Amino acid sequence: MKHLLSIESLNASDIEQLLAEAKVMKRERGRHAAEPLRGQTWAMIFSKSSTRTRVSFEVGIRELGGQVIFLNASDIQLGRGEPICDTARVLGRMVHGTVFRTFAQADVEEFARYAGIPTINALTDEEHPCQILADLFTIQEKQPGPWSQKVITFVGDGQCNVANSWIFAAGRLGFELRVAAPPAFQPTPALLQRAGGRVRCVEDPRAAATGADVLYTDVWVSMGKEAEAAERLRQLAGYQINDALVARAKPGALVMHCLPAYRGKEIDAGTFEAHAQTIFDQAENRLHVQKAILAWVVR
Ligand code: CP
Ligand code: NVA
Repeated sequence: MKHLLSIESLNASDIEQLLAEAKVMKRERGRHAAEPLRGQTWAMIFSKSSTRTRVSFEVGIRELGGQVIFLNASDIQLGRGEPICDTARVLGRMVHGTVFRTFAQADVEEFARYAGIPTINALTDEEHPCQILADLFTIQEKQPGPWSQKVITFVGDGQCNVANSWIFAAGRLGFELRVAAPPAFQPTPALLQRAGGRVRCVEDPRAAATGADVLYTDVWVSMGKEAEAAERLRQLAGYQINDALVARAKPGALVMHCLPAYRGKEIDAGTFEAHAQTIFDQAENRLHVQKAILAWVVR
């Protein structure tokens, strides 16, 4: 039984295989002969808002021949306190796979353990593996070349799910990852040790951007952190991707954002528009990469 619960649980060859398959999915969209989800019905349980992940999975499941039901967690008994392990055992008898977006990583793992059907992490507080796989695909598409020679700089909340998944990806693929974050938002030493890899954590975003191939950011207030919004905006104020920061990166460096974007906060409005082609290709690639993930977990 295969799941896609974290980048940490993948090895380099899994990642390369998924990226190669996503390339075929993208090239052959609308012309797939194989329908690996034919005859299957998938559930998508979401406890948090979503545009990209929800739409790309719903479309992807259908394009692979499957049917899909979207379950807002607050509409099912899970939202009234039914345990994950019971929800999982019920769904495991009715559907063929689940895409789950929620808060605790442990909940997605528990679901996978009890459901006995392929389970995909569509974002937790700790990881966003589908996002990072799509980002890796986008980088490879736009800047082909060995991972070991790339420098990827993450600017902002170095403890968020997206940053964590980047840290695990660095451990797997061997690129240099720089994380520029204020002290309270630096990745924890325990996580860095667990992930391995070449990860350099600094406070100065200019130092982190210098000579980088990719500048990457995410929202300053992740879902579930709304109560901390004012303090986060105050502490992260100096960590915006803007033209001055981009000027320090390599000429032609990619500027990436997982979206949704808050202009004037983590990214300057003009910088965002100047790099909109990359950013929306990155969003589109969620579809192709997640189709590869779906085909991979049912194989
Ligand atoms: N990047 C991302 O996961 O977007 P959504 O929250 O809209 O799914
Ligand atoms: N870190 C963000 C990612 C959104 C796709 C969040 O968790 O809200």
